[in-house]
Amino acid sequence: MTQRERVEPVRVGLVGIGVIAATHLTVLAERPDVELEFTVDPGPVEPVEFRGGRPPHYGGLGEALDGHRPDLLVLATPTETHAELLTTALLRSTARILVEKPLVHDRASLAALRALDGKSDVRGRVFTAHHFAFSPEVDWAADLIAAHPDWGPVTTVTSAFYDPYVLRGPEAFASYVSSWTDSGVNQLSMLTRFVDLVGVRSFRQTDSGASAWCAVDFRSRGEAGTARLRSSWLTGSSSKESSLAFGRSGVEVWIDHTAMTGFAARDGELLAAFGNDGRTERKVAHYRPLYASLFSGRPDPVIGFEAAERITAIHRAVPDPE
Ligand SMILES: NC(=O)c1ccc[n+]([C@@H]2O[C@H](COP(=O)([O-])OP(=O)(O)OC[C@H]3O[C@@H](n4cnc5c(N)ncnc54)[C@H](O)[C@@H]3O)[C@@H](O)[C@H]2O)c1
Repeated sequence: MTQRERVEPVRVGLVGIGVIAATHLTVLAERPDVELEFTVDPGPVEPVEFRGGRPPHYGGLGEALDGHRPDLLVLATPTETHAELLTTALLRSTARILVEKPLVHDRASLAALRALDGKSDVRGRVFTAHHFAFSPEVDWAADLIAAHPDWGPVTTVTSAFYDPYVLRGPEAFASYVSSWTDSGVNQLSMLTRFVDLVGVRSFRQTDSGASAWCAVDFRSRGEAGTARLRSSWLTGSSSKESSLAFGRSGVEVWIDHTAMTGFAARDGELLAAFGNDGRTERKVAHYRPLYASLFSGRPDPVIGFEAAERITAIHRAVPDPE
């Protein structure tokens, strides 16, 4: 490769070294176009190893930005810290920023971010890791449905997301706020692959926020439909599935997000099926295409600021648990 062809690597600062940071590090380490410039976490975390080295580590983002000029900041911190860290990142750096989902924990924070757009290029720089929209079974189902206008509109979606966070006790609420805050945004970003979201029809939160039920109205192929979204932490295992019903044609598309599989059926007939080779860990299967999209010249709109605004308007239209 000649000097002129050499492309400078993307210098990444990773903020928050908790559970999901491990997936970011795995996918970033696979990419030859990336260097990990520094890490940040105020907690007692193990030093991060990246390609055999240990990048400098800081207790706060401000301190890290005093000495580094990253191209990309990844915010993988508890949900309620996103808004404040984003503001620091926008005002104290020129980096693009990939924020873990959900972008913000309330509508006031979204309004504050919008207000910053004049000062800092919020729309051009802020991306949200709506990773569920990149899951292979979601991709498969979206392509299948696009190829079948003859199936008519999606009339009902039923989606149930369970996580074993009851075992993590209060720590789960500190990191993820509530099952709706954590899973609702995944369900909504997944839905945007299939339908146009309209608004919340009804919402009920139980188990002090560890469980939720939300009905969301949408439009599909010019007609109205409803998505019924259930989420709960009251379980010992993870399980996430969604079913899309095409009431006109009697077709049903069933996707299992835990197994990353799917099938389509009508009456007793199997129309299509999808599986995988079992070699790729689930979150890596989400974040690999997400990063590929972010680093491409044209990031997928689902990680862009406008999608996050639309999703947040519905996601944060309902109150948090007391
Ligand atoms: N765990 C998952 O499977 C998962 C999947 C996708 C998205 N997410 C999202 O990622 C975010 C983090 O989740 P997690 O599971 O990794 O949480 P976590 O609690 O395991 O880790 C968060 C880390 O951030 C650190 N932190 C707290 N405040 C900080 C600050 N001001 N600056 C720097 N670091 C700070 C904490 O010390 C901790 O190490 C949440 O918004 C969550 O919704 C999590």
